[in-house]
Amino acid sequence: MSLWHKHAVFEKNPIILLIGVLLVISIGGLVEILPLFYMKNTIEKVDGVRPYTPLELAGRDIYVREGCYLCHSQMIRALGDEVERYGHYSLAAESMYDHPFQWGSKRNGPDLARVGAKYSDQWHRQHLANPRSVVSASIMPGYPWLSRTELDAKHLSDNLRVQQLEGVPYTAEQIANAAVDARAQASEDDPESKAFAKRYPTAVARNYGGQVGKVTEADALIAYLQMLGTSVDFKIYHEKANIR
Ligand code: HEC
Repeated sequence: MSLWHKHAVFEKNPIILLIGVLLVISIGGLVEILPLFYMKNTIEKVDGVRPYTPLELAGRDIYVREGCYLCHSQMIRALGDEVERYGHYSLAAESMYDHPFQWGSKRNGPDLARVGAKYSDQWHRQHLANPRSVVSASIMPGYPWLSRTELDAKHLSDNLRVQQLEGVPYTAEQIANAAVDARAQASEDDPESKAFAKRYPTAVARNYGGQVGKVTEADALIAYLQMLGTSVDFKIYHEKANIR
């Protein structure tokens, strides 16, 4: 029997075939998985990515609560048509502070990974309340109660603390001031504005189009939507890599 015919042993005995298959698959698996344990970091660091502010984090929780992820992904794949439509493909580091991540697997609506700064706050406010008032053929449901419901800031500190347990580098000061910071971010002239800017130097504070002095769930959600995909300046990276 030539060497070539030895595979007959596998083909005639299902148990030996099974052992052979398992052996080959485990070698393949180990080759893929083992290196990850020896790498210092599986996520390449990029400049600009920062933890969410308390207001954005609250907005993100509302996004999850309302099931926005059921229709919207937040991950632009490295495919020509997606990059052309949505912008630079998503980097792993951009969702490093997302617990849980919002990549999503369904796109009944457009990907939202880079929706930040694409529309005005007022557009979002109107779109959330009644999508058809700005996009006539939209099938997105309205969420009119968000701008009527005051944001519950009671648990914001706990919220940050849980994120810290998951590895998000919030400081004790940021955790203690979560509720204060949420209010300060929703208005430019809050007495705590300066302290907020110190705690979150790259975050934007402004009135998100709501009533002055009252922070609603819509404000939080819009603050979150407006920062999506805006942390990384891809111009710098393109110059560094010397690509277009
Ligand atoms: C049933 C599916 C569905 C759900 C649920 C849904 N959307 Fe949408 N969304 C759409 C569709 C379809 C569009 C495109 C038409 C439009 O702009 O209204 C859209 C558009 C958008 C846009 C504009 C995107 C762009 O680039 O033009 C934003 C922002 C948005 N949705 C946010 C949300 C948020 C926030 C929630 C949760 C509160 C949500 N959506 C829930 C279907 C959905």
